[in-house]
Amino acid sequence: MVTLIENPLRVGLQQDRIPEPQILVIFGASGDLTQRKLVPALYQMKLERKLPPEITIVGVARREWSHDFFREHLREGVEAFGGGLYSQALWDDFAQGIFYCSGNMDEPESYQKLKAFLGEIDELRHTRGNRVFYLSVAPRFFAEAIQQLGGAGMLPDPKKQRLVIEKPFGRDLGSAQILNRVVRQVCCEEQVYRIDHYLGKETVQNLMVFRFGNAIFEPLWNRQFVDHVQITVAETVGLEGRAGYYETSGALRDMVQNHLMQLFSLTAMEPPNSLDADSIRNEKVKVVQATHLADTNFLEYSAVRGQYTPGWMNGLQVPGYRSEDGAALESITPTYAALKFYIDNWRWKGVPFYLRTGKRMPKKVTEIAIQFKEVPFLMFQSAAKQANPNVLVLRIQPNEGISMRFEVKTPGNSLRTRSVDMDFRYDTAFGKANTDAYARLLVDCMLGDQTLFTRGDEVEASWQALTPVLEVWDAPAPAESIPLYEAGTWGPVESELLLNRDGRRWRRL
Ligand code: BG6
Repeated sequence: MVTLIENPLRVGLQQDRIPEPQILVIFGASGDLTQRKLVPALYQMKLERKLPPEITIVGVARREWSHDFFREHLREGVEAFGGGLYSQALWDDFAQGIFYCSGNMDEPESYQKLKAFLGEIDELRHTRGNRVFYLSVAPRFFAEAIQQLGGAGMLPDPKKQRLVIEKPFGRDLGSAQILNRVVRQVCCEEQVYRIDHYLGKETVQNLMVFRFGNAIFEPLWNRQFVDHVQITVAETVGLEGRAGYYETSGALRDMVQNHLMQLFSLTAMEPPNSLDADSIRNEKVKVVQATHLADTNFLEYSAVRGQYTPGWMNGLQVPGYRSEDGAALESITPTYAALKFYIDNWRWKGVPFYLRTGKRMPKKVTEIAIQFKEVPFLMFQSAAKQANPNVLVLRIQPNEGISMRFEVKTPGNSLRTRSVDMDFRYDTAFGKANTDAYARLLVDCMLGDQTLFTRGDEVEASWQALTPVLEVWDAPAPAESIPLYEAGTWGPVESELLLNRDGRRWRRL
């Protein structure tokens, strides 16, 4: 149980800023992300009055859709995947600002047509040339779209036009560097918003407040007191019809390079000088640049992959990865990855960071667990065979919160000890739903706040840290070379060995 104590000086001072009138131009607007995430999130923001009345959405895609068809498609999305319409009048007002403009990503004429159309919309909706171009297209089109936007003169003013690029940004260090060069040719870093929706999650942002808003944890946050860190992003879902994409990506590109590396860098970075975007991003880049796999001579000592086979989830039988629609019969695409990193700096030298993620795990859990060192000398031998080290767990999702595990004496005459948890839960403390990650990030982008977006050098640093694994895992190999795990279990046995070798084990979640 947690009692909320407000700082009286801070209460009432904060007021949400409202972005300037603007057009959100979504490339790939007929795709899933627009209907399931982006527009429901924007509508929620409209409902919470966090958007200007002139807010306008222009969808761009190849199909020949009418404005009305697009509006209806998005309305269905808000009803099915968002919080519902809430009021017809509100939807009608929102829908008046929705338009569709068909076009081909690779045809200069399409961009000229779009440019002219956006000019007309500026007149109609008073959007003053402010635009966010959101690239929600297959990654192979990123470079083309960026060049074309630049070529059509659609990104001339860093203060007025912004570019949002979905993940994955490149597929290795080389391609990320090339994409960064393309971006720099047409606009400046100030205009670029590489989106990672994990950074929009409330509890991920809380990591910084927790670390740097409290005096008691930071002194312990280093090699002197921390034994090791485990970061887990476990999912119950399988491919969800995305085999076409997933076969070219796998767990390392889909989850580790972006989401897990963000959790990792926020956990390990040094305190920034201030909360401005570049101060934070400088620290994140620095720590990722100092990060390397534990052992690159014997890759299996620092990286384990796995792929799920048929199994049972919640009493239902589910197919193995290779039988999913669109997956190759001999596929070696990893659906599970576990890595062991070291960081070469004063704070963390010698402390292993274990990262794992997998699909078709028994539970959906995202957490960061900081395991502290054991007590130097255990006086209670008769009670406990071994010391239970203290663990601080930051639960990112679900059951968002923080818990601290420590030892207490069990009641009675003998000196027996037991581990207990001190627990903070967001929902019981605040009783309100967290803002959707996409909603938060879209509004930040419209406000020109890059703090929660990945900078170019940061993306390159994280690809660099993963390069030794990519080189081996990308090489053609026979189907039997990838360790397997049954759907509904915690990954291949090899991943246990990764920690057992060090005398440790994965947390049971
Ligand atoms: C996406 C990945 O970025 O994140 C998906 O492409 C994954 O494969 C998803 O399922 C997980 O996001 P969340 O917010 O559900 O943890």
